[in-house]
Amino acid sequence: MQISPSILSADFANLQSELEAIATADWAHVDVMDNHFVPNLTLGPPVVEALLKVSPVPLDCHLMIEDPDRWAPGYAEAGAQSVTFHVEAATDPVATARAIRAAGARAAFAVKPGTDFAPYEDLLAEVDMVLVMTVEPGFGGQSFMADQMPKVRQVREAVRRRGGEIWVQVDGGVSASTIEQCAEAGADVFVAGSAVYGKDSAADAVAELRALAEKHRH
Ligand code: DX5
Ligand code: ZN
Repeated sequence: MQISPSILSADFANLQSELEAIATADWAHVDVMDNHFVPNLTLGPPVVEALLKVSPVPLDCHLMIEDPDRWAPGYAEAGAQSVTFHVEAATDPVATARAIRAAGARAAFAVKPGTDFAPYEDLLAEVDMVLVMTVEPGFGGQSFMADQMPKVRQVREAVRRRGGEIWVQVDGGVSASTIEQCAEAGADVFVAGSAVYGKDSAADAVAELRALAEKHRH
């Protein structure tokens, strides 16, 4: 059970100290947005490189960008330890996942709430994680979509059938009140932005989320 706090909800003027505040987490989730795939703009490779130099935890880069086939491998080459691209934006997801892995990172694909998982089941052979979005990508602080839990179960079942170690990540509206249903459905990596950085102590929030998820270890 792993916790990946999203720095989208952190203070962008103080990212080094914001990363240090989540040193007890497993990952730092970095939301890359390009104003095209989603209507928001955040950061790109130069900032990821700077974060890598100071982060106490590995970086989990979630690319909400057009043309990930072209851009995703660069994040792995920069040193990001996990790189997730959206299937809705990818033209050749197999080649993209392979290029990410060839650069030494874990590869993952993400599905938006309106995107079915079934057409992408064969892609499990190429990745280390599947991200099931539990909000429409683009912004932090949105309401959790419980109607995505059947998809989390479906991914977990497909992973179980295949065997091997593929993680199932949820992202969006994950908090102390929603994390248990995610874990129960089969998620094992939990992204939380506002539920971590919106609290007085990010470290306490990470510990609380972890304890709740652990109750449903599978
Ligand atoms: C949304 C991003 C999320 C976001 C989550 O597009 O992918 O990672 O930061 O924020 P919360 O946890 O506040 O919903
Ligand atoms: Zn994200």
